Formats: sequence, structure tokens, C-alpha cells
Amino acid sequence: CHPTRGVSILPRVYSSAARQLADMDASRLTITKSTTPKPLVAPQDLVFGKTFTDHMLSVEWTATDGWLDPKITPYQNLSLDPATCVFHYAFECFEGMKAYKDSKGQIRLFRPEKNMARLSASSQRLSMPAIPEKPMIQLISKFLNVDERFIPSEKGYSLYLRPTVIGTQRSIGVGPPGSALLFVIASPVGPYYPSGFKAVSLEARSDIVRAWPGGVGDKKLGANYASCIAPQLEAAKKGFQQNLWLFGPEGYVTEVGTMNVFFAWLSRTGKKEFITAPLDGTILEGITRDSVLELARENLGPEGWDVIERKYTIAEVKEAADEGRLLEAFGSGTAAVVSPIKRIQWDGGMERRALGEKGAVEINVPLSPGSETGPIAQRMWNWILERQYGEIESKWSVIVPR
Ligand code: COI
Repeated sequence: CHPTRGVSILPRVYSSAARQLADMDASRLTITKSTTPKPLVAPQDLVFGKTFTDHMLSVEWTATDGWLDPKITPYQNLSLDPATCVFHYAFECFEGMKAYKDSKGQIRLFRPEKNMARLSASSQRLSMPAIPEKPMIQLISKFLNVDERFIPSEKGYSLYLRPTVIGTQRSIGVGPPGSALLFVIASPVGPYYPSGFKAVSLEARSDIVRAWPGGVGDKKLGANYASCIAPQLEAAKKGFQQNLWLFGPEGYVTEVGTMNVFFAWLSRTGKKEFITAPLDGTILEGITRDSVLELARENLGPEGWDVIERKYTIAEVKEAADEGRLLEAFGSGTAAVVSPIKRIQWDGGMERRALGEKGAVEINVPLSPGSETGPIAQRMWNWILERQYGEIESKWSVIVPR
């Protein structure tokens, strides 16, 4: 017997010239404190996304070295060459997550590992690095300790965190960024909509498409949001807070852009159905969406509700409304939490759209009498908030170490 020739069973030996890329290392964090602390804004005066804390967290990455040492610094401007790839080819993705103060004064995060996994998926879709979950959560925890005084303690208020990844390669050649910056800024927030905790009206259009199968609508890219603003301004002129995005000639209901959406109705055979669109690439994989579905299965299931993820059309919603079977609708998102929907105006699809205003179809969604919400949205809001604020201990709530 003689050894097999020509087949190596040894692991591949890399040349000594290959560099070991550095992992993200939270223990290498340096902290430089601000010398000009900002005054706190009273919770009722907070406008979503306008107030920022004293500090920011940043970690640079390069293709040759990996992750450099993380830093917490005073909140400051970025200085970037005008040729930086983020400005030209939209190498940008982000997350939305929140930190809460519980009644004992502890800081809590809600399912932060999900945010990190999604950020990682978005970043890699743009040829930027994977985001290591554990060190990032450790770094965010340290950042929260530094800016703790900005975390509101009133229920319904929180510190919104905005982890962001941008390509920082100085080049207008189209290619993968050789360097990136991951930064996190934080903003104390109350309700997302300027109308406060009130039901919203949506305009559903069939002529503009937010996302399509195989596209990037399921990734949290800034570009997905920027392209929704022009139609949103048109909707706002007509009195709507947001657009409801439909897909295809069938008019499949997808999402709102800042929220996933849910409908509660009676089926044609009288069954109680709680329905949302499936994760088919045309909607963002909302963490609140996932939480709503799990809570619905746990709490609404025993009450006889079928919790369903399937494609459904705006015509089905309209038919349910016309036949008195539509019971409720709401949106869910990190920023909006649970936001009841009271009215949808639909252009009626391709043919009716040609008729302009005359072709538009109104869908009125019932609310509880004398209230700005429906019974499921109200209960869902409570179920989620009591977990986020740690009134009920759950596997989702993470206490931030001091
Ligand atoms: C969120 O819910 O965190 C969002 O990303 C919506 C919006 C504020 C961009």
C-alpha cells in the first residue's frame, strides 16, 4: 500500500503574506467625553429624529485590516472627500432600534441581535462587511451607559438608536468599498407620527412600486426610503400620512415603507383572520412584525384567530370593507411601534387610475367607538410595550449591563 498521490488532505496553507483581518473587539473601545453637554428636551416637545445625544459610537473597517479600534466620541460632523463612494453609489444601510428605561431605572434593549443580523445582511448586500453581533451589542451597551441621561423614562418614549454603515472608499470607480464606517447615533423619541398616538390614513398607489421580488426592498437601505419621499409628499398634500405600497397587476399589499401592515377580518366563510404579507423579498423583515406575529399566535390564537402570512390583494381588503367583514388594520415598526390605520384611499388599479379622482376607491377601517385605535391594535400595543419596558420579563428584553 502506498500513499495517495496528487490529492491533498491537508488544510490549505495560506502564504505568510496573507494578513489576518482584525475582528471587532469591544475591549479596545476608547471613550472621549463631550465637554459641552446638551440640555435635555422635555418628552412632550420631542419631534421624531430631531434631537441627538452628546456622543456617538464609531468603528472603521478596511478590507486590508478588518475592524479598527472602536471609539465613543462627542457627537460630531463627519469629514469625507466628495469622491467618497457613499455619495455616488449609495453605499449606505442602517437599523432602527430602541433603548428603554424600566421602572427600576435599568436600561433595556429589545431583540438587538435581530437588528445586528439585519444590518449585517444589508451591509453585505452592498459589498460591505458583515457586522459581528456580540461585540456590537457590547459597544452599544457602553454607548447607552455614556448617554444614559437622554433615555426617557416615560412609557411610550425611548432612545432611538440609528446604527449606520457607509462605504468610505475615496473613489468614483464602481466597485466594492475598500473601507467602511459603522457609526451609531441616538435620539430621544416619542410618537413617530406628528399626529401623536393617532390612527393614520394611507394612500395606496398602483403606479409606483417600492420593491419587487429579487430586489433590495427587504434590506434596510437608505435608498429604499429616499425614493418613497416624492410620492409621500404628494400623499401628504391630499391629507395622507403615508403610502401603502402595492405590487403587481394583482395589487398585492406589501408594506407602508416605515411599517409592515396587518389586517383583521372575517373571511368569506366567517373565520377570524389576522393577516400580513409574507417575507417574499418585497417587504422589510420587521422585528416588530415578527413580534406581532408571535404575540398574535400566542394570544389571539386561543381566541379563534387564524394568524396568516400570505399574499393578499387590496381588492380583498376592499371587498371585506364593503361586506362589513373588515374589523381592523394597523402598521408595525420600531419607530411607529403599533399604529392604527383608519382609512385607505386606493387609486383603484390601472384601469380606474385613468379616471383620476373619480376612479379612487375609499376603504374605511373601523376603530373602537370614540377611540383612535381598534381592540387588537390596542392590546398588541400593550403586549409589546410591557415587554419592551420589562413590565413582563420575556426572552426578547435584554438588560444592558452597567
Ligand atoms: C424604524 O421603524 O426604525 C424605521 O426604520 C422607520 C423609519 C424611521 C425609517
